[in-house]
This record gives sequence, structure tokens and C-alpha cells, in this order.
Amino acid sequence: MTRSKSKDYNPHRGQKAFHYAIDHVKRFVAMVCGIRGGKTYSGARQALRMAWNAKNDGVFGIIAPTYKMLKRTTWLEFKKAARPWILNENRSDHIITLKNGRQVFGFTAEDPNSIRNVTLNGFWADEAREAKNFGELWDVLLGRVLSTGGKGIVTTSPNGFDDIYRIFVEERDKDYLMLSFPTYINNYISAEAIDDLKRKYDEKFAKQEIYGEFVVFEGQVYYTFNRHENAGDLAFQIARYDDEKPICLCCDFNVDPMAWVLAQVHTRLDGLKEVRVIDEIFLRNSNTPEACKEFKTRYPNHEAGVVLYGDETGNQRSSISNITNWKIIETELARYGVQKRVPTHNPPERDRINAVNGMICNSKGERRVFVNPNCKNIIRDLEQVAYKEGSAQIDKSSGKDKMLTHSSDAFGYMIEKEFSLNRGEIRGLSI
Ligand SMILES: Nc1ncnc2c1ncn2[C@@H]1O[C@H](COP(=O)(O)OP(=O)(O)O)[C@@H](O)[C@H]1O
Ligand SMILES: [Mg+2]
Repeated sequence: MTRSKSKDYNPHRGQKAFHYAIDHVKRFVAMVCGIRGGKTYSGARQALRMAWNAKNDGVFGIIAPTYKMLKRTTWLEFKKAARPWILNENRSDHIITLKNGRQVFGFTAEDPNSIRNVTLNGFWADEAREAKNFGELWDVLLGRVLSTGGKGIVTTSPNGFDDIYRIFVEERDKDYLMLSFPTYINNYISAEAIDDLKRKYDEKFAKQEIYGEFVVFEGQVYYTFNRHENAGDLAFQIARYDDEKPICLCCDFNVDPMAWVLAQVHTRLDGLKEVRVIDEIFLRNSNTPEACKEFKTRYPNHEAGVVLYGDETGNQRSSISNITNWKIIETELARYGVQKRVPTHNPPERDRINAVNGMICNSKGERRVFVNPNCKNIIRDLEQVAYKEGSAQIDKSSGKDKMLTHSSDAFGYMIEKEFSLNRGEIRGLSI
């Protein structure tokens, strides 16, 4: 099969380079680019060609990070690309037989062992950055093509200096090649739509997600926060209680400290929303009824409503379950008119961080979070909360400052709920 046979496929510049590289230049090629860059689309078409033209025994392997991703995206795209060449499909086992007798097997990185007893004449690993352990998966895959000399392709967005970076850049073998492109290369998506997305992202995250660059996340988690810009004179003037707006009460139910952040949402002239942190309740060795009492003392006459945000189920750090805490608040503050916007499923920490950073300052330098300079604890959090060394996770170790992370966690739940990056203008962001 030559690619021209699939008459409907017009690869963009980056995709052309990718096909050329694996057809003529190297045995293992990784296409690393921004989200929605056309990785899965071209991966599926390249996989079909490799599977159809395979000269050796064995089957062609398609590997997605999870079963869900295999089913919803990778396998589906392959089937779309391969439709005229498919003889039949065993759906439950993810096995496709092509009209020339060649077979294609679908696998997930969740279970590399299931690949161990199959001989592969080639493989395609899609969105490899999400694989649980890409290093291990890669070793398994190399073993599977050892006897056939099969080729392998990887299509993925980058994710820091992970195994993909190690294998394709740091320890690169002469048979390996990595091609990297920004999302903008995909002319099937309008540049305006990508711009809109970029506007939601902070600079570092945009570098990774849109420009397809390897970026490290270390040191200050909320690195976009700037005390003068986000919590300076302007913030002092505008981040003040407005009796016509609901108070967004962002709660963390740790006992010491009990950290609540109070914010209000305003609509700017351009129609975009802006978050103003007007106050905080930060009590040592306290409990939820005490914090409610404090709220009532400070806002005895508030009439515009209260909206609750935070962690639905709580974690090991909370003394009593959060469910009880939410009930207490709803009862204690009932007279204010309470609305609960606590997510039923906690968003991944990474999503919260990205949403907060994007609002504090996006890749275009726009700031949509203003913190009253008197809110010392949330400011301290935004400045000092750090990543755990060697990981992209927040350092919550009690050995460090026990006062940190609670305020920004609580605030992050609200930002994620209202300004989630996953509710993008472009559908299906994650893969
Ligand atoms: N060569 C192409 N021709 C037509 N549509 C394309 C092409 N490449 C990508 N697309 C479209 O662009 C969008 C993003 O592609 P996709 O492969 O899902 O991106 P990624 O896997 O990089 O996130 C999809 O809607 C896809 O159909
Ligand atoms: Mg994809």
C-alpha cells in the first residue's frame, strides 16, 4: 500500500516529515508535539501502512496508555484510517485482521505483560507520556521486535524530562529519531482556536502543551504569581468585599491550620471573569464550627449568597471526614443562602495547578487573580509552595512548613471548578 491510496489523507508538513522519517530514515521515530497537533491522526495512518506492508511474521501492536484511551481514541482512529482494508474485527480482544491477512493487536500500557508473549512486526505507542511506566514498556516492545526487526513509532505530547526524553534525546541510539512540532503546524485546526487555548495556559504549560517542548516543573509551583502585580497596589484597591457579589468560600479542613480563602468573581469589560481574593480565615488548632463563627462575625449582613468550594471527600490530613464538615458549614451558614460547588470527583492535582497558574498570569501576560495584600497566608502559599524534589507533585511534607499548601489547595479547587483548562474550546484535549 502506498499512502496515496488512502486518497482522503493529506498530511500536514509535520506529518509528512514523520512519515518520511519512519519509512526511509530510522527504525524508531517519536513524533513529539503539542496537543491536537495531529499525532494520533498520522500515527494511525502510519500504523496501517506498517501493518499492511509488514514483511515478517508476528502482528502489529498498537499501544495506548490506558484501556479507556485505547477504546475511545487510539483504536478508534486506527479503525477509521483502516476501514477499507479491514476484513474483520474481534472487538472484545481488540484484534483486527486486514484484508491481506495481516493482524493488528491493541494493547494498553497498564498491562505490559500482555505484550510479552506476542511477536510484533512493528508497533505504534500513542500518547506515550501518559503511560504508567514508559521505560519498562519500551524495553518490552524492543524485545518483541527483536526477532522481526520491526519498526516502532511513538506519538506523544512531551512531559518534562521523562523516559521518552531519556530514550529519544539523552541516550539516543543511532536508530532513533525524535521530531518535534508545535500545535500550530496542524492546519486542520484554526490558529485562532489554538490561540484561545494558549490564552488559558501559563507560559511554561503553553510551552509544553502547544509548542511541544520539554519543560521541567520544579521549584515554586505557582511561579506565575508576582506579589506586585497580583497582590500589590491595584489588588489593594480592587480586591475588597463587594456586598453585591456572592462570597466564594474555599475551604481546607485541616485542623492546624484551618485555612479558608474568601474570593469574589467579577466580570471584566472584555467579558472575561476575574477572581479577587478579599479575605481569609486562617485559624490555628481550630474546627469547622469555629471557622463558621468567624465568618459570621466578619460578614454579619452579607446578603448576596455564599458558594462553597473545596475537596469533597477529604484526605488523610483531615481529622473528621470532609462530608461532615460540609454539612456543618451548610447548616451554620444556611441563612446566607449556600450553594455548593464542590466537585464530586477531585480533579488531578496537576489540573488544579495549571488552572491556577493560567489565571494568575497566562502566556500572554494577562492576570486574572488579584489578592488583597492583607491575605498573608494565601500570598505566602503562592510564593512558597514548592514541588517535591524530582517530581511534578506538590511538596506537602510535614517536615517543612506545616502551614503551607492548605490555602492554595482550597483556592485551587475553586479555580479548577470555574476555570478548568479541560473545558477547552477544542474538544478532547487530553489525547
Ligand atoms: N492530516 C489531517 N487531515 C485532516 N484532519 C487532520 C489531519 N491531522 C489532524 N487532523 C485533525 O486534527 C485534530 C487533531 O488531531 P489529533 O491527531 O487528534 O491530535 P493529537 O493526537 O496530536 O492531539 C483532529 O480533529 C484530526 O482529525
Ligand atoms: Mg492524540
